[in-house]
Amino acid sequence: MSDRRPHDLSGRAAELLPGCIEAGREELVALPHRDRVLFEVRLERWFQNLVDGLEPVYGERDDFGTFLAELVRALARGHRERPEPLKVLDLERDLSPDWFQRPNTVGYVAYADRFAGTLRGVIDRSDYLRELNVTYLHLMSVLWPRDGENDGGYAVRDYREVDPRLGDRDDLRAVCDALRAEGTSLCVDLVLNHCSDQHPWALRALAGDERYQRYFYLYPDRTVPDAFEATLPEVFPDLAPGNFRWLPDLGRWIWTTFHDYQWDLNWSNPAVFAEIVEVMLDLANLGVEVFRLDAVAFLWKRMGTDCQNQPEVHDLLQALRACSKIATPAVAHKAEAIVGPDDLVHYFGVGRRYGKVANIAYHNSLMVQTWSALASRDTRLMTHALREFPRTPSSIAWATYLRCHDDIGWAVADDDAAAVGLHGAAHRAFLSDYYAGTFDGSHARGAVFGHNERTGDRRISGSLAALAGLQAAREADDGPGIELAIARILVGHAIILAFGGVPLLYMGDEIGLPNDDAWHEDPATRGDNRWMHRPRMPWDRVAARHDPATVEGRLFAGLRRLIRARRTTPQLHAANGAEVLDLGHARLFAFVRPSPLGDLAAVFNMTETPQTVADAFLSEAGIEDPVDRIGGDRPDLRAGSLRLAPYEALWLV
Ligand code: GLC
Repeated sequence: MSDRRPHDLSGRAAELLPGCIEAGREELVALPHRDRVLFEVRLERWFQNLVDGLEPVYGERDDFGTFLAELVRALARGHRERPEPLKVLDLERDLSPDWFQRPNTVGYVAYADRFAGTLRGVIDRSDYLRELNVTYLHLMSVLWPRDGENDGGYAVRDYREVDPRLGDRDDLRAVCDALRAEGTSLCVDLVLNHCSDQHPWALRALAGDERYQRYFYLYPDRTVPDAFEATLPEVFPDLAPGNFRWLPDLGRWIWTTFHDYQWDLNWSNPAVFAEIVEVMLDLANLGVEVFRLDAVAFLWKRMGTDCQNQPEVHDLLQALRACSKIATPAVAHKAEAIVGPDDLVHYFGVGRRYGKVANIAYHNSLMVQTWSALASRDTRLMTHALREFPRTPSSIAWATYLRCHDDIGWAVADDDAAAVGLHGAAHRAFLSDYYAGTFDGSHARGAVFGHNERTGDRRISGSLAALAGLQAAREADDGPGIELAIARILVGHAIILAFGGVPLLYMGDEIGLPNDDAWHEDPATRGDNRWMHRPRMPWDRVAARHDPATVEGRLFAGLRRLIRARRTTPQLHAANGAEVLDLGHARLFAFVRPSPLGDLAAVFNMTETPQTVADAFLSEAGIEDPVDRIGGDRPDLRAGSLRLAPYEALWLV
């Protein structure tokens, strides 16, 4: 195995590689020669990224070298245990690292139980997913959550066990196998910032085991917590105020950024890192292909800051990413960091971490700006904010979405607002009023979530149909209103399907499900109005999707049309990101997707009135005699201008 050319490593990586190769070899003796070589080639390829991620965090420790060798042993064991079909997938993805960037990628997001009852039930629903050409399925609350309140599954009791109400590990493996056979990747949540107070680590810590107490942040009195609180915001100001909780049995305070039953993990302890890597290897070897790394912005605490987006977070994520590349390279990482643009790009890597941190990250700003433009019928803020967005590496993909299981926070920066003559706080208040339905003339039926009395901040819950005016129009039997709402929902989807990345359809939006009132009745959900947009899939209503006379049928067919157009439009590959255009038009939103095949210009009318715009921007983008990829038509440009119907979307090539 020594006849390969060594990689050019530097610093600690060069020094530590030989020992780590040795450690890996010891775990792999029983494997065929080719498998051992493959592991070593991958180890050498990604070792620099691994060490560069870990060194700033743990490099000062005397046992850093041993820690690293043990980590490589774990990776080697993960590789050793990897089932053959997944090893084949690893090879495919080594060869096609852009698999999640391709225009055929379509994501679907659902609570496993609310979508299909059980994991096996998901297999029975795969026909439905195929109708939507889904290639990426994010199932929520799969890993065993705590009993009682569990923040919608984001308080995990055991990362290695499946929620018994859904099935067991064999069922999870079966779902992965079935989906993979269809070309669909399963994504599950890996809640990295905290585990629940019922997790074995927490129980051992409570029982006095010091090893496990070091997995958490514990304080004997309020001195340190108070010092941190001085600069810490509150995630759930009304549901779970404060960031620390008193544990009477231990006589200590514990860090709980979210609910008091979600205990923040102490990532400054390398044992936590090692544990999570073992969890990742285990789940990846069951067939999980994407990890949604939950609430990652909060992983590192630094006194005097808001304890979000600290550089160590990006280092740790880079190291986790390298671990997957070494042992389970088919796996991709999606970062859930709902933060401002300048902070967000760090999750793809900036500077020395460029392109090394996560493969996919949520485009929160695109989502917020879409809702903002739809409410104000004005695209200037959207255009400005998205034009200012920092550049991202060509190897990444945005997770583009209109709705998800969470509330919407109006992440509109004050300086972006000011640049287009708006007052940030006033605009954010307008959006809350508008989507809560209290603004005069609003068609929205959302509700305020997480009202922060101190900052005035009001986030919003509500289903897509409720926020986009479909629910209200249907309740009022308002035919024209229904037409407009359908068009509004589709223009939103035309944006997320064309912007570049993994478009995520949120369960039920494809048939326009309204808010679910049942959340009031269930004691498990009553306290948290995000459950209004986490309905059960009403399969009896889903049948209407094939009837073009129904709202469900119109939406479903409209979405399928967009998805079909996306799949056959190579310009929509995520490698060339969207460049937002300033058309000097306050009602239209537009961007170009540059491509060696000829650019694509996407234009969206964000209002219920027809709009026209001079067509010069098309020739500037090199697009002559354009064809719309969605409708297949040639727009009429004879008068030198392009005309868009209410809420019309055009993808012009
Ligand atoms: C993420 C989840 C959200 C949860 C939080 C805490 O933001 O999307 O639902 O409340 O993390 O885990």
